[in-house]
Parts: sequence; C-alpha cells; structure tokens
Amino acid sequence: MRGRLLDDTGTAKLGGLNLTDEELLRFDNIVLTACGTSWHSALIGGMMLEDLARIPTKVEYASEFRYRNPVVTDRTLCIVISQSGETADTLAAMREAKHRGARTLGIVNVVGSTIARESDGGSYIHAGPEIGVASTKAFSSQVTALLLFTLKLARLRALSPVRGREIVDALHALPGQVQNVLDRAEEIEALAEEFKRASNFLYLGRGYNFPTALEGALKLKEISYIHAEGYPAAEMKHGPIALIDEMMPVVFIAPHDSVFEKVVSNVQEVKARKGKVIAITSRSEPSLEGLIDYEFRIPETLDLVTPILASVPLQLLAYYIAVKRGSNVDQPRNLAKSVTVE
Ligand code: M6R
Repeated sequence: MRGRLLDDTGTAKLGGLNLTDEELLRFDNIVLTACGTSWHSALIGGMMLEDLARIPTKVEYASEFRYRNPVVTDRTLCIVISQSGETADTLAAMREAKHRGARTLGIVNVVGSTIARESDGGSYIHAGPEIGVASTKAFSSQVTALLLFTLKLARLRALSPVRGREIVDALHALPGQVQNVLDRAEEIEALAEEFKRASNFLYLGRGYNFPTALEGALKLKEISYIHAEGYPAAEMKHGPIALIDEMMPVVFIAPHDSVFEKVVSNVQEVKARKGKVIAITSRSEPSLEGLIDYEFRIPETLDLVTPILASVPLQLLAYYIAVKRGSNVDQPRNLAKSVTVE
C-alpha cells in the first residue's frame, strides 16, 4: 500500500496500469481470472468491484475460461491474478482474453514473470518471495491490491470522496490490526491442539467472507491433509448439513458485518445438530452466547477489509494443526509452488 494511498482525495494511485482515467472508464465489464488461492482473491475482488465501482464483473477459473465460449469484447477488462505469474492455466486464460480483444491487467507478485511481461499493464503486489507452497501473504496482498484498484475505479465512477476516505483510513489501520492478530497466535495454537485429530472440517461464511471460508478450507487441506470444505453459510442447509454431528468442527467467519445476523441463524442450525462451533468474530456478540464453543476475535474494520484480517487466524490454524500432526508445512506432498503444466 505504501505510496499508493491518496488520503486527501480518498483514492489510490497505481502506476503500472498503463491506462488513463478516460480509458479506465471505457470498460463496461470486468473478468477476473486465476487459480487456487488467487481465484479466492479474485472472488473477493469481484464482489468489491460490483459493490463499489458498480461495474458488471465475472470471476472465472482460468482452467475453465478458455474451454468455453466466454463473452469477452474490447470493452472487457480482464484482470489476471497470480502469485508466481507462471501458472499455465492462468497464462493461457490471459492469452485467450487478449485474443478476444480484452485489455489485460496482471496482479502479480514475481517481478518479470511471464504474466507480468505479457499483460498490457498491472500492479505488482510486492509481497516479497513466497517460499511456502501454501500461499498466505500473497493472498493478503492480492486482496489488498484488488481493493486499491477497486478504490481507484470506484472513485472515477460513482464513489464519494467521503466513502473513499473511509476505505483509505481502514487500509492505514490494517497493518497494525494484522499485527494484533499475529500477536495472539498462541490462542490459535491452543485451538489447534483441541482439533489436531479431527478428520473433517467445515468452513462457513457469507458475503465477503464466503471466499475467506474457501481459503481457510484450502489452507487446511493443503498442509494438514485434513479434509475440509468451504461453503457459503446459507447453502449448508442444502446438503452439507447432513455431515454435522458432534465430531464435526465448523469454523464460522462471523465478523460484525452487514450479514452478521444471517450468519447467527446458520450458527444456530449447526449448534442444533451438535456441531463444534469455532467462530471468528470481531466483538462481543450477545446473540452468539451459548452457541459457540471457541472464539477468536479479530479487530473491527469495514466489511470489505474483513477477509484480509479473518484469513490470518485461518492460516495460523492450518499451520499449527499441520505442525502438530508432523506435516511439512513448507513443502506439502503432491504440490508444487507454481503449476506450470496444464
Ligand atoms: O502462482 P499462482 O497464484 O498463479 O498460483 C495459483 C495456485 O496454484 C495457488 O494459489 C495454489 O492454490 C496455492 N498452493 C494455494 O495455497
């Protein structure tokens, strides 16, 4: 974020887009494409763009995008997200979008990587080298970069300076808030001790934190080899609810946001079936009393910033469970840091 936030005007400055403000305003739709964790960032970015910039946005698995017949024109902006900048499916999706006339922007970590070089413009996330196979700081930085881009586009379109400044203030507060979560890592370690022998986990969230649930589940699967599913909390009753019994830990991402009350009713559904509820909350909530077994509190922030904060305890939970199970957290089995084959 350093050097990219404009406090007075409540917007962001991104040097590498290679697009003037007038050109940015010409697009009538956006496609975000990526794989894995980067696709989870894309889901959050897509929600932000529709929410704040009010532009129709689709989020596509890169591996699927190029094998169907997507509606992409020269009025489409295609945002390609990749930590490595070398993922074969993502690169191919970007080439396909270009071929169909779209303008491409890369949100990439590795400087000089193929996606960074071949995209028409973009923004480096500057997360530093990410060594562990499971993506963590790249996820946080991708979501942050997407928020900066959204802020810029939204301010050019309809977002008020007041609302823009609110977001800038929330972003300034973010590093300290992430540190606050990291400083309490031992709370998560204790939680990991409780659940290290579980065979399954369910992660549930709504709105901006539905992708956070997917990401939490992916981290656990990757490094601890525990089966985990992420789901939109309200979809649980359409199937996964059948899995819930006293052996099933259910992680709810439940900060005090616009969908909080809705999440509470989903917590009740799990508790009624004796599931073990672990809740990531952001304040003391009387409506959750008696419903949750374990709680971890993240600092309060704007709805759209909550995924960045809530993902940190989920990353730590996966990490501590994996360490306690004796897994190699840096190099999990069957996985490569960068998937350069189709
Ligand atoms: O380098 P990329 O961001 O393009 O990689 C995409 C996925 O392969 C990657 O995010 C993968 O899902 C991670 N191992 C997740 O932790």
